[in-house]
Amino acid sequence: MGLVRNTSMSVLVLFLCCFCLDFGSALDTIKSFQPIKDSDYIISNGGAFKLGFFSPVNSTNHYLGIWYNKKSVLPAQWVANREKPLKDSSGVLTISEDGNLVILDGQKEILWSSNVTNSVANSSAQLLDSGNLVLRESTTGTIVWESFQHPSDTLLQRMKFSTNVRTGEKVQFSSWKSPSDPSIGSFSAGIQPQTQSLVQIFIWKDGSPFWRIGPWNSRSSIGIPEMNSIYRDGFCLTEDQDGTYYFSCSYVSNSSFHYVMTTEGDILARYWDFEKDDWGILWNAVKSECDVYGMCGAFGRCNSQNSPICSCLPGFEPKNTKEWNRGNWTSGCVRRTPSSQCAVVNSSIEAVKMDGFLKLKTVKVPDFADSLPAHESFGGLSSTNNVDYCRQQCLENCSCLAYAYDSGTGCMSWTRSLIDIQKFSSGGVDLYIRVAYSELGELVLLSLSRF
Ligand SMILES: *[C@@H]1O[C@H](CO)[C@@H](O)[C@H](O)[C@H]1NC(C)=O
Ligand SMILES: *[C@@H]1O[C@H](CO)[C@@H](O)[C@H](O)[C@H]1NC(C)=O
Ligand SMILES: *[C@@H]1O[C@H](CO)[C@@H](O)[C@H](O)[C@H]1NC(C)=O
Ligand SMILES: *[C@@H]1O[C@H](CO)[C@@H](O)[C@H](O)[C@H]1NC(C)=O
Ligand SMILES: *[C@@H]1O[C@H](CO)[C@@H](O)[C@H](O)[C@H]1NC(C)=O
Ligand SMILES: *[C@@H]1O[C@H](CO)[C@@H](O)[C@H](O)[C@H]1NC(C)=O
Ligand SMILES: *[C@@H]1O[C@H](CO)[C@@H](O)[C@H](O)[C@H]1NC(C)=O
Repeated sequence: MGLVRNTSMSVLVLFLCCFCLDFGSALDTIKSFQPIKDSDYIISNGGAFKLGFFSPVNSTNHYLGIWYNKKSVLPAQWVANREKPLKDSSGVLTISEDGNLVILDGQKEILWSSNVTNSVANSSAQLLDSGNLVLRESTTGTIVWESFQHPSDTLLQRMKFSTNVRTGEKVQFSSWKSPSDPSIGSFSAGIQPQTQSLVQIFIWKDGSPFWRIGPWNSRSSIGIPEMNSIYRDGFCLTEDQDGTYYFSCSYVSNSSFHYVMTTEGDILARYWDFEKDDWGILWNAVKSECDVYGMCGAFGRCNSQNSPICSCLPGFEPKNTKEWNRGNWTSGCVRRTPSSQCAVVNSSIEAVKMDGFLKLKTVKVPDFADSLPAHESFGGLSSTNNVDYCRQQCLENCSCLAYAYDSGTGCMSWTRSLIDIQKFSSGGVDLYIRVAYSELGELVLLSLSRF
């Protein structure tokens, strides 16, 4: 009797234990006595994200990652041990004695650590429904580390990338090396700290500009016409008091919208399409060679509808005609007449020889924009008056090479070279290029026929 009873008790205990283990692995929290093994995973409270070990396509390496918990599985949105793959399934994720999240290999060597320097006693990690993995001090609940501060290649909603213009501190994104290798690839994305200039988002290739989204006009980016879509309200670039610029996308939607940087440096705006029951791409950023930074060199302009795609700005000619004609546009263009006669507005007869401006319609404005001081009644004036005001400001300053007006940014002006101008078929803004009085008449005709 006693024996039977004992057996059923142990069966019961075993059953309960299985149940609790099973239950344990379904929780969203990692505690020091519950390591996550290679075959385990946790799911966020609302079911949106999953954390566990995975192997990328065509790879036998194991990585710890976080990905959307959907039936159509995307490559992981976040990867912990990007640079230190596990060669087998012996890895575990656990909380170390000093309170850090760590990945241990089969030899109990630390492959990756959350690296919080002041050790945190009694910490636990939780996978939130936003996709953020947070490490908390259990007694106070203070977050001491979070995966959102260490992005991989994906900007999830409520995630921020940022640049502090005073300290230079940055949170950036970086592409995977290839679809089967999540280690840091050639491309990275972040906010360019340009004091005096308007803030821009850049993609760098091995540290040099690869493309830029263009100045931010408080609603969307001048460089991506599609941003003026239904999703635009989620885009936000804000400045903190301490000089940090943040960019994030957060709007009320259950479409799992996010941005991802591809291994070729493109940005995809991806969402869950409920009708198709699969992922969809809303837009991608790099569509033609014209998106490549400085494709046509200084004082050149790019139009993907033209052949060749590059031409010099009105009043300019190729710096190196031989290279230019071979389709090597990197050295750009120079002024045809050595310098623009810079006549200052003056009531005297000299005023007749004032420089003029030629208009390039619907373009991505050049890099290195300065914002001119706003008109006192900026916003209150009609758009035409605002453009006239910008024109006047530019005309009065001999170092002003071009100006533009956008209702979000106000007047923009350029005093260095004019680089990375792209013609859009729609969207963008109108750019006004300063030309010498002597060239004006001829150029108006020329530019009408060409651009
Ligand atoms: C995986 O390997 C197969 C066979 O070599 C290849 O056809 C496929 O394109 C690869 N997939 C990726 C994403 O690299
Ligand atoms: C942790 O910090 C050490 C020393 O600062 C550094 O060498 C190591 O790369 C860091 N590890 C991670 C995963 O950030
Ligand atoms: C850790 O938590 C346990 C139970 O909550 C508590 O008994 C213990 O004192 C804590 N240790 C530290 C160092 O706070
Ligand atoms: C998400 O949104 C779609 C369409 O907007 C709706 O049909 C669906 O019920 C929503 N799902 C949830 C889980 O809220
Ligand atoms: C393009 O031209 C520049 C000089 O204008 C030269 O230095 C460079 O090597 C050329 N690039 C190619 C690919 O020919
Ligand atoms: C305007 O013209 C007058 C007469 O030619 C000249 O004396 C004056 O310096 C000019 N003003 C400016 C700002 O150039
Ligand atoms: C002309 O513009 C440059 C650059 O914006 C500025 O540094 C300079 O002070 C301006 N000059 C005048 C006379 O306004």
